[in-house]
Amino acid sequence: MTRVAVAGVAGRMGRTLVEAINATDGLTLSAGLEQAGSSLIGVDVGELAALGATGVKVVDDLANVVDDFDVLIDFTVPVATIKNVEFCARHGKKMVIGTTGLNDEQKAQVAKAAESTAIMHASNMSIGVNVCFKLLEQAARVMGDDVDIEIIEAHHRHKIDAPSGTALSMGEVVADTLGRNLKTCAVYGREGLEGPRDRETIGFGTIRGGDIVGDHTVMFIADGERVEITHKASSRMTFARGAVRASAWVSEQTTGLYNMKDVLDL
Ligand SMILES: NC(=O)c1ccc[n+]([C@@H]2O[C@H](COP(=O)([O-])OP(=O)(O)OC[C@H]3O[C@@H](n4cnc5c(N)ncnc54)[C@H](O)[C@@H]3O)[C@@H](O)[C@H]2O)c1
Repeated sequence: MTRVAVAGVAGRMGRTLVEAINATDGLTLSAGLEQAGSSLIGVDVGELAALGATGVKVVDDLANVVDDFDVLIDFTVPVATIKNVEFCARHGKKMVIGTTGLNDEQKAQVAKAAESTAIMHASNMSIGVNVCFKLLEQAARVMGDDVDIEIIEAHHRHKIDAPSGTALSMGEVVADTLGRNLKTCAVYGREGLEGPRDRETIGFGTIRGGDIVGDHTVMFIADGERVEITHKASSRMTFARGAVRASAWVSEQTTGLYNMKDVLDL
């Protein structure tokens, strides 16, 4: 039995994870973490997902549950994730990280920690999006430098980072396939007298509103035709199931930094 802790357990993803872990054989939810000061500290994690009492209470410090879990699933905010990464590396706990919006320094800290434990970090854990990554590679390879490439994403009004981690990952797949560097070729939003489009750029557009779970479209636009590869998530359960699958997988690894491609063997 793999014992799983969830950081951000009272969040949108956290509550969905409680439900997903509860429905998975071979995994047990053995700890839940929320930020200090939360009114939910001490609440039973099962109650967060209306599953009834489980006997596992929400804590505000991983040190309180250090002997109670093998894998930490973290869907929080970058500063909290980095603190948890350091804790897990020190105590040999495996990690599944879903948090997006990490800066380059924070990503380097995750990579460093993965030298002493196994970490799976992915901007999107849905199986469909990971299939899209493969399709994008193929489209970029065939349509190449003859098209303009634009990426549009839409999320709920509470999302704090933009563009989404998934949109950036999609951009990276396309840029890598075409031998471009996303850092120098990305254009984030346009305004004013921008002049004609440079074909080497990859444009990003962001929509925020309502309860949209997550939509992504990558357009390969030629003269006379265009290809659009679209993924629409209608339930957070798709991400939670991916995270659950990843935690069983990462528990079998010793050290290293992985992504969903490794978990799904794509
Ligand atoms: N990889 C994926 O498949 C995927 C899917 C959905 C969301 N996300 C990402 O997951 C993250 C969370 O998304 P959400 O919609 O659940 O957000 P949310 O705001 O609903 O939940 C985040 C939770 O983290 C908690 N938190 C903040 N600081 C903490 C700390 N120091 N210790 C413990 N808990 C802390 C908050 O109190 C909150 O309950 C975001 O970065 C989002 O982009 C990733």
